[in-house]
Amino acid sequence: MEELRVSSGGKAEKYKCLISQIDAVLDGTVDIVANMANIASMLHFTFGFWWTGFYRVVGDELVLGPFQGPLACTKIARGRGVCGTAWSRGCTVVVPDVSLFPGHIACSSASRSEIVVPMLRNGHVVAVLDIDSDKTGTFDEVDRENLEIIVSLLSRLQ
Ligand code: SME
Repeated sequence: MEELRVSSGGKAEKYKCLISQIDAVLDGTVDIVANMANIASMLHFTFGFWWTGFYRVVGDELVLGPFQGPLACTKIARGRGVCGTAWSRGCTVVVPDVSLFPGHIACSSASRSEIVVPMLRNGHVVAVLDIDSDKTGTFDEVDRENLEIIVSLLSRLQ
């Protein structure tokens, strides 16, 4: 397996380079957790985010999945925090300043901004990709668009 290559260009260029590598690394012969683990690692080390990982829907909760970064809470109820909100809405939630998001769950006091992208199967949310930054205003439309592409590549495996 090749090592991660990171483009020296801007954010959009980095995502373009990353998406082609993710496409090559995704493995339809193993379970979703293994693929989530590689995606979390590739995103985390391309962009230097504070926390990058997945929560999976298990019963009526989100349960912590593969991630890179500091320790995180293991369970989140539907509708709670940014992750539970993205789950109940079924769409991406971008939070430029977590201190202004009612009900934000502060797994780490260093987190300042966040994006959560739901992964759907047959119209139902089965997991979310959650990324935290230690700076405010990190995530914009470029992140939303590209992270939704990455999550759709993953959901196509099932
Ligand atoms: N901040 C999230 C909780 C998960 S951690 O960021 C890893 C939320 O409000 O749902």
